[in-house]
Amino acid sequence: MEKNNDKKIVLSGIRSTGNLHLGNYFGALSKFLRMQDDYDCRFFIADLHALTTNPDPKMLHESVKDILAEYLAAGLDPEKNILYVQSDVPEIAEMYLLLNMHVGIGELMRTASFKDKARKALGITSDSDEIEKEIIGNQTNQRVNAGLLTYPTLMAVDILIHHADYVPVGKDQEQHLELTRRFARRFNSFYKTDYFGEPVNFNFGGEALKVPGLDGSGKMGKSEGNCIYLIDDEKTLRKKVMRAVTDEGPKEPNSPVSQPVENLFMLMGLVSEPEVVQHYRDAYADCSIRYGDLKKQLAEDMLKLTLPIRERILDIRSNDEYLSKVVKSGAERARAYAADTLKDVKEIMGIRKI
Ligand code: TRP
Repeated sequence: MEKNNDKKIVLSGIRSTGNLHLGNYFGALSKFLRMQDDYDCRFFIADLHALTTNPDPKMLHESVKDILAEYLAAGLDPEKNILYVQSDVPEIAEMYLLLNMHVGIGELMRTASFKDKARKALGITSDSDEIEKEIIGNQTNQRVNAGLLTYPTLMAVDILIHHADYVPVGKDQEQHLELTRRFARRFNSFYKTDYFGEPVNFNFGGEALKVPGLDGSGKMGKSEGNCIYLIDDEKTLRKKVMRAVTDEGPKEPNSPVSQPVENLFMLMGLVSEPEVVQHYRDAYADCSIRYGDLKKQLAEDMLKLTLPIRERILDIRSNDEYLSKVVKSGAERARAYAADTLKDVKEIMGIRKI
């Protein structure tokens, strides 16, 4: 592949915890697909990040392969992009140690994703902001591992090691991106250099997207069990959509739309034609809506997107030789960039050969 020195560098990754769902697809993957022709793109599978939630080893390995197959099946081209597995680039782990020296544990503890996961790890259901005290005072067997705390450092390294300009991610990752910029500025100012730039999200001019789930609240996420996977077969997908949470229906014309129903409209906005969405919104407004019809249509339009991808996933996923060829070439190319950055960073920090 030629080096495109004049193209902006794009970097993004997805954690390998289970299969890709429509939240990943619309939040991230669809943007990757649109960027691959015009940018110097590097996309990876964040298996080290997946370790922060202590997955079963076999499941972790399978998930890396699943996601790679799903990336490829969705249309990411291994010739146009660098596709790699995070742990295949050991320079990332080394630079993570170095960058941690400039990261504060207080700012890490205040990160929203950390607080969520720490609460989960300790089995705390309230969203009290006293999580710092809970962690330190905790006398039980549960623990919040340090990898979870330093998750944002690792993510910043993923990005900075490539000198990425753009990081296409969903809304839930914006705080991590903000921390990445903060760490970059801090490194620059401590060492009186302008070595790192400040990467930004990329949304084709729109807002970062939050894809809602089917359970009436929150976002689509693997842990919430409210999602549609690219690999779902027709029957499974239809069943999930038909079971999506709604409400009792509008009682008077032009009633405000409840969250669960708004979520379905939003999902429809992603997969259906605009006229179709408008049709159902109008039906809601004049109280003629039947949620069963809306769901049938939604499932139909989701399947139009996912079924062809599913076919390709099944095909690619069984081809170990191909998968391993793709990541080997990706790792070689990613390591070339990563090694350059690591060398510079060590030099800047004073880790020099005697
Ligand atoms: N934290 C991201 C997520 O959970 C995954 C990720 C890790 C990532 N490193 C990254 C995304 C670097 C973009 C850039 O989705």
